[in-house]
Amino acid sequence: MKALRHSLTAQIAAAIALVSGLTILLLGMLMDSRLGGELREETELLLLSNLALLRDDLAAAGNDPAVLPRLVTRAGRRTPRLHLEVVEERDAALLARSPQFDVPQEALPRQLLAAQLLPPDPTRRQMDQLRDQLGQSTVTWQAADGGRYRLLRARLPLPATQERPARVLLATLAVETTPSRALRDRNRRELAIALCAAGVLSALLGLGIARRIVVSVRRFGATASRVGASDLHERMPLEGAPAEMAESTRAFNRMLDRLQDSFERLSAFSSDLAHDLRTPLGNLMGEAQVALSRPRTADEYRAVLESAVEEYERLSRMITNMLFLARADNQPAPAAHWVDLDQALQRVAGYFELLAEERGVVLRLDMQSPDGVPARAWADESMLVRALGNLVSNALQHTPPGSAIRLRARVAADRSCTLEVANDGPPIPAEHQPHIFQRFYRVDASRQGSASGSGLGLAIVHSIMEMHGGTVAVDSGAGRTTTFTLRFSGNPLT
Ligand SMILES: Nc1ncnc2c1ncn2[C@@H]1O[C@H](COP(=O)(O)OP(=O)(O)OP(=O)(O)O)[C@@H](O)[C@H]1O
Ligand SMILES: [Mg+2]
Repeated sequence: MKALRHSLTAQIAAAIALVSGLTILLLGMLMDSRLGGELREETELLLLSNLALLRDDLAAAGNDPAVLPRLVTRAGRRTPRLHLEVVEERDAALLARSPQFDVPQEALPRQLLAAQLLPPDPTRRQMDQLRDQLGQSTVTWQAADGGRYRLLRARLPLPATQERPARVLLATLAVETTPSRALRDRNRRELAIALCAAGVLSALLGLGIARRIVVSVRRFGATASRVGASDLHERMPLEGAPAEMAESTRAFNRMLDRLQDSFERLSAFSSDLAHDLRTPLGNLMGEAQVALSRPRTADEYRAVLESAVEEYERLSRMITNMLFLARADNQPAPAAHWVDLDQALQRVAGYFELLAEERGVVLRLDMQSPDGVPARAWADESMLVRALGNLVSNALQHTPPGSAIRLRARVAADRSCTLEVANDGPPIPAEHQPHIFQRFYRVDASRQGSASGSGLGLAIVHSIMEMHGGTVAVDSGAGRTTTFTLRFSGNPLT
């Protein structure tokens, strides 16, 4: 029962069955009452017209009650369902009666219709008007054998003649309505059957419609359950889906796209991670094992430990960088404010001054002219400095001693700002350029190990720029300076 209440199909089918059942029931009740009304109308007209005939025939016979038995027989012959009884009002003396007339006294209508109200040769309209005034002078009666009758009682005043004083007769007319009743009962039975059939049919129809609706919902579920870690490529087919489901289908597919993308990035990241942690750990282990293979002097141990500390630092840096990237993946927009790009460049140059001097490289700041539009970016300052720092650190590694690294901030015509870090030195081969922003990607694979970086610096730059809605690009080639450009889009507040 509970399952049915929660089933969309059952609910839709039940609703359709209920609505069509109720409609048919209402229509049926309306038709039944119309039929009942019409049958009653017909019976009453029959009673009134026979009363009019009796009165007129009696008048034609000079109002002589002796003709009554003949008139009653004739009326019975004319209308087989009609039975009559005529008595004197004064003493209830019986004047004429149809053979089957046996209505008990207490069943007779209390109210009497005055027959003179009936106009001679009444029109249909006059009859209808009179029918409306019948009120209590017509009643229904059920005989002991189950036969049903409608009764009408009327006063028939006979004017005085030379032979007879004026007198009043009471005429009772009874029309058997059993056949009409049977017709109505049959009608009701048929209605009940139609009702049941309509209920069943519309429930089936509802079931069909609901199934069609639910089938697309089911397809959703089926696809969703097929989607596992190994087959994230599974998508909901758009063709064949109902128009109402198209948007949810697209949203579902977009969600799968995002999941697949994140999942692939995550697996690539973890495999890179395992690979890159193995090298320094292997170095550390190898050095320690060699050191332990025989007794060493204190100086030798010291040298081993010093080399280990270098490796630990590298590992620690790598883990910090990876943590930053992992957080950046799920991070919302950074805490941004207006950052003066010239100042940011000066800060970064300050950090790298000593290192540059050590390498014999000059850091050259290309500052904005004082009357120019100040280069500003809507950014998280520490992240911007970190991105710049990674670029400068790379440039320092690839710039030959005696040359310069140029740092420059620029405002474009569309008010977007760019930061450039340019250095001379060996260019980055074109085939590597599309990959250098990927995690753990290094151009010179042979330099893997403690001597070189971990290949995360540019991935961090890329990730920081993505968080800011900006881009990072590289321009490098034979005979050209290698230039990295950070572009901050025209921010939302300008
Ligand atoms: N200015 C540059 N000139 C030449 N090659 C560069 C320059 N900057 C980066 N590269 C190349 O791009 C690769 C990726 O740089 P990235 O900063 O991501 O890694 P890394 O410097 O090797 O390591 P990390 O920055 O994590 O210590 C480097 O291995 C280097 O070969
Ligand atoms: Mg680097």
